[in-house]
Amino acid sequence: MRYKILPLLSLVPASLLGAPVDLVQLGKETFNAVGCAECHSETKNDTSVKTGPGLYGLFPTTARKRDIIETGENHKHTVTADFTYYQKSIRNPGSEIAISEVAPTKGEPFLPVMPAYPVAFLNEQKATAIHHYLQTLNDDELRGPSKVMAELEEGTVAKDIHQDPTEILVTDRTRVFRARIPGSSARAVYVGMPSGLNYAFDPRTMTISKAWWGGFLNLKNEMAGRGNNPSAMGNQAREITLAGQPELSPKVDLSFKSPLIGDGETIAKNLWGDADFLEQLTTANAQFIGYTYPTDPKGSPTFHYRVGKTKYALTFNITEDGMAHYNLTKGSEMSKSILKTDPPENVWRPNPIPSTLSQKVALTPMAVSYTHLTLPTIYSV
Ligand code: HEC
Repeated sequence: MRYKILPLLSLVPASLLGAPVDLVQLGKETFNAVGCAECHSETKNDTSVKTGPGLYGLFPTTARKRDIIETGENHKHTVTADFTYYQKSIRNPGSEIAISEVAPTKGEPFLPVMPAYPVAFLNEQKATAIHHYLQTLNDDELRGPSKVMAELEEGTVAKDIHQDPTEILVTDRTRVFRARIPGSSARAVYVGMPSGLNYAFDPRTMTISKAWWGGFLNLKNEMAGRGNNPSAMGNQAREITLAGQPELSPKVDLSFKSPLIGDGETIAKNLWGDADFLEQLTTANAQFIGYTYPTDPKGSPTFHYRVGKTKYALTFNITEDGMAHYNLTKGSEMSKSILKTDPPENVWRPNPIPSTLSQKVALTPMAVSYTHLTLPTIYSV
């Protein structure tokens, strides 16, 4: 399995770098994730008491004027609140102190309590993204564009999981992968969808053998153990009960050919059992043909197989309401089966993947990489 390591190391981060991202959306998420929202309101005429000035109307498309105190000289100044002013505000907030524009503190400087956000916490792209987001907080004719597309840059994605080449990520398109996971045979095909749904199609039985919400796959064991140890479901995976699956075609059991990972009993029976392998093969008379990708890059692939002389095509998906949809084409006949399963609740993906890349992503773990961000003591009241 050594040959697998190299392509994975280079492939996984590359799958995110350069991926399209909406900076406005990224900015909004980052604004919340790194704590800006704790101190700054984002709405017009917000009366809630926050430590910092409200940011609605501060960055219109054409820069406006702003009164500040320059701390070096202790002078009051009027500056243009352009992108440079914004950058100074976050990188070196103590250098220019904003003066309140609204009652009851109107005319008074704010306390110099904003923590500096160095590039190590907030890279250029994320800082720029926040600025794009702040530009949308304006009245109609002054408002910045609601969508600004760019390519994801290095350092914008959190280091932890995205640099872990053993975690197989799903971003904006469905991924199909071969791996060895307990509960399915070694020939199983794994599907990871942007919705957060993952499942295995097992050619041993021509059924969906396993499904889960959350992280797709983690290949750590397989890579570390030179392929001896099975891999696992991805980070924070939650398995879905598929009890009562409909029987879609004549029952197929090719276990003798391809036992479950870790199922020593079947393996032993095959080796020492009475049944003749070729005989079993003829009785089963079924064959996995392969899969085809969907036209919708976020959609489900179709699995093709044959039982006897009949060809089948199976597509599987679980929708947000927890309904598992099986679409089977037998020859030219189509049939649908729907089964109630577990709904997604809070789907978790190794993060932060901006929601423009992967819908319904819970972005919480992003804050984890900022735990060493300490606020100045003056603020810890
Ligand atoms: C601990 C509270 C706190 C946090 C967290 C904080 N700020 Fe501030 N911010 C302030 C205070 C107080 C001021 C006013 C004093 C000053 O200008 O430094 C300010 C000033 C600003 C200004 C200038 C405002 C104006 O009206 O001219 C901007 C822009 C700004 N912050 C953006 C941000 C962004 C973006 C973040 C997150 C990356 C952030 N702040 C996080 C408290 C905070």
